[in-house]
Amino acid sequence: MNKGFVVTPWEVSGDIDYSRLAKEFGTTPISDTLLKKIEKHSGKLHYMLSRKIFFSHRDLDILLSEYEKGTKFALYTGRGPSGDTHLGHLIPWIFTKWLQDVFDAPLYFQITDDEKYLCKRDLDLSQTTAMGYENALDIIALGFDPEKTHIIVDTDYSKTLYKIALQVAKKTTASSAKAVFGFTNETNIGMYFWPAMQAAPCFLPSILSGQKIRTLIPAAIDQDPYWRIARDVAPKLGYPKTSAIHCSFLPPLTGMSGKMSTSEGMQSTIFISDDEKTVRKKIMKYAFSGGKETVEEHRKKGGNPDIDIPYQWLRYFEEDEKKLRKIYDDYSSGKLLSGEIKQILADKISKFLAEHRKKRESARKNISKFILKD
Ligand code: TYM
Repeated sequence: MNKGFVVTPWEVSGDIDYSRLAKEFGTTPISDTLLKKIEKHSGKLHYMLSRKIFFSHRDLDILLSEYEKGTKFALYTGRGPSGDTHLGHLIPWIFTKWLQDVFDAPLYFQITDDEKYLCKRDLDLSQTTAMGYENALDIIALGFDPEKTHIIVDTDYSKTLYKIALQVAKKTTASSAKAVFGFTNETNIGMYFWPAMQAAPCFLPSILSGQKIRTLIPAAIDQDPYWRIARDVAPKLGYPKTSAIHCSFLPPLTGMSGKMSTSEGMQSTIFISDDEKTVRKKIMKYAFSGGKETVEEHRKKGGNPDIDIPYQWLRYFEEDEKKLRKIYDDYSSGKLLSGEIKQILADKISKFLAEHRKKRESARKNISKFILKD
């Protein structure tokens, strides 16, 4: 049946109905009770939780109940290096940093140079590894604690990871990999093994510590199929089932359909490496507007923030609730024009990126503090 959208780790397209997707994947919507439980520890909820940008989970309630009884957990997330980092990637990472601060949890961050080599026909392994180390700077720039953050570039940590992946692979059949990931007879066999590598860090904290440590994975919902495999094998291998918390996608600049991604093209995506002039040009020229055809009509009837990309992006990047509310009201009433809301977004993103790039450069000298090698 054509449901109008596709979400897999390798393809996201169409108008995503997130509650339908959660049902289909078998994940649980984040309830108000669960939000209150998180708030008890954090004081204030992160805006990505209160705005339901993070909207679904697996066993986060169980993980929190254990935490309340004194059981520690570890965070796990990652990046597949196939080019420059873009703004969409930062969404789960910004939230992960908040989780690290609130719960004082170690983070294992996997950079999958092997995955991108296997699935991108035009990339060599040396290129994906080099991109991985460049992407690592964007992670460090977000302010993660060097004492508690361990970045893994797969091919430079393969001795440890491979042994864990073997355990996962032995318990995972090709037919379940086919069913979960849609692999076919034409898929290369490296990809058939690959899910075992992405599942491996779910169990790494337990293996390194010799204790049963549950992991919590903050990521967009496209990565969830991996956690199905990991959760399925966990009890068979004697590890706790991994928990996950899922976010929706920062949409492409050109409209609400699909996710912002490198393959969507330059007009849809803002990269960390885009200079201020490029950022402003992309937003002013390509950001899909929910405004009316003429200024006169806009002033009279107002714009539609629900489909307006500058407003939608501000939901992801403007932390200040009051400011965001005012923008929503002014735009809906017609007080704020389409060009003006684009300007607000362009200022916000330009300022954020200028600061981020400075931190990114100073991260170069600290990178060795973060990288795990074996
Ligand atoms: P990758 O590099 O495709 O994406 C990295 C992270 O960014 C999220 N993401 C987005 N989030 C919001 N809006 C978007 N437009 C957007 N585009 C991407 C992804 O969900 C992901 O969290 N195979 C993985 C690498 C990986 C991983 C992990 C990711 C290995 N282990 C554990 C998450 C958790 C990949 O290629 O991610």
